[in-house]
Amino acid sequence: MSRQSYIIGNWKMYKTGSEAVQFVTELAPLVASSNPHVYLAVPFSSIYQAATAAEKHHIVIGAQNVHDEKEGAFTGEISALMLKDAGAEFVIIGHSERRKIFKEDDSFINRKVLQAMKNDLKVVLCVGETLEERKQHKTEEVLSKQLEKGLKGVPKDYTDFIVAYEPVWAIGTGIAATPEIAQEVHSFLRVILSEQFSKNNAAKIPILYGGSVKPENISSLMEQSDIDGALVGGASLNIESFNKIVNF
Ligand code: 13P
Repeated sequence: MSRQSYIIGNWKMYKTGSEAVQFVTELAPLVASSNPHVYLAVPFSSIYQAATAAEKHHIVIGAQNVHDEKEGAFTGEISALMLKDAGAEFVIIGHSERRKIFKEDDSFINRKVLQAMKNDLKVVLCVGETLEERKQHKTEEVLSKQLEKGLKGVPKDYTDFIVAYEPVWAIGTGIAATPEIAQEVHSFLRVILSEQFSKNNAAKIPILYGGSVKPENISSLMEQSDIDGALVGGASLNIESFNKIVNF
């Protein structure tokens, strides 16, 4: 089945609002007729400006995190409704940096997923094993747990979300998974998805690869049948390299 492809830039804690506007304005004409959907996950403070600059262009703006509650006394947090109101259309949830540095566990991640979906924000749920876990042959165990727990309670017929496989050992290291390793994991993830969403529905859910994606390796990754795009960190901060990845 042919699925829509996505290239998503995750800017992490880089770029101010005015830098985001400049980036979006320069990128827009370069990706106007690109085949993949082009998404940018920008810092909270840049969402409104970036979304305004991206209006009427082939670029969709989103966030990198969201709180699990609708509203309340949660100093420093941000709700799904606030993100939507600022112009975000999607949100990354469960990135390994949030899991590790900010100690987010699967049940917190699951509550965020449900809250985002309730507010009509497209979820990009990240899963990924550490190098230790891979060495101990625990990759499948870790990934199925993250995926099943992260998506608990999502209705069987709801397929309007994205899964991103980001092996922790490949993030920011310059060592991407080989296309073969990534394909093997993606097809495993699709099997896990089909247990919750039926085979037919699982076939509709895009699974992106993330971890040291560069202009040099995007084509070979995209050739794989279960790789539907990429979640790009470092290489999404530069117009030239991001454009090469989008228009690979
Ligand atoms: P790099 O592309 O810099 O390895 O980062 C990947 C990532 O964490 C995207 O979410």
